[in-house]
Amino acid sequence: MTQDELKRAVAATAFEYVETLLEDDTIIGVGTGSTANFFIAELGKIKHRIAGTVASSDESARRLKELGIPVYDLNSAGAIAVYVDGADETNKHLQLIKGGGAALTREKIIAAVAEEFVCIADESKMVGVLGKFPLPIEVIPMARSHVARQLVLLGGDPVYREGCVTDNGNHIVDIYNLEILDPRDLEQKINQITGVVSNGLFAVRAADRLILGTDSGVKTYLP
Ligand code: 5RP
Repeated sequence: MTQDELKRAVAATAFEYVETLLEDDTIIGVGTGSTANFFIAELGKIKHRIAGTVASSDESARRLKELGIPVYDLNSAGAIAVYVDGADETNKHLQLIKGGGAALTREKIIAAVAEEFVCIADESKMVGVLGKFPLPIEVIPMARSHVARQLVLLGGDPVYREGCVTDNGNHIVDIYNLEILDPRDLEQKINQITGVVSNGLFAVRAADRLILGTDSGVKTYLP
């Protein structure tokens, strides 16, 4: 199967799972990226049964609205039953690296609010140790150099993502060459650096369910 076929398959499985949770007032959190886009397409099939969604990026909000699915501001949405999103890397503990699409901060906020966080990914995203994928950090623009110097002290090689402005008006620094042996600890350390808005480690709030597309079928993992 191609990577896109695997992404489509995990999105379909996530959709079946989300359908079992649907009640009249269910709000669904929707992520960002190519895998999440397949999930958005699935949601289009049941748009009349969805009370609404909260989106982790302007782009996902645009896609949802295009399908006629209501998108709410998180502040007026109340409880989020389930949040479905992709990842750049996952380990077997369902700790993730996210933010390849620069939407990490809103993704982290929705994941924090959601009762359940379902990660959908193809098997290329499963790793033993997180860190081969450069870890995205969203930074306040004026703090970029300061943050980069602090990241060097943590053992990484920070690189400014040229031309990228997040939906929040901030910049992204990607940290290369990290071997993340203690994801929770590193996530908290990076959050302590002044000027960091958020970082792409989802370990303090890891996924609750991983739906992984493999050549031998779609597999579901729980932590
Ligand atoms: C966006 C993300 C995405 O979930 C991540 O980049 C995976 O993307 P894709 O599904 O296109 O492989 O974190 O900020």
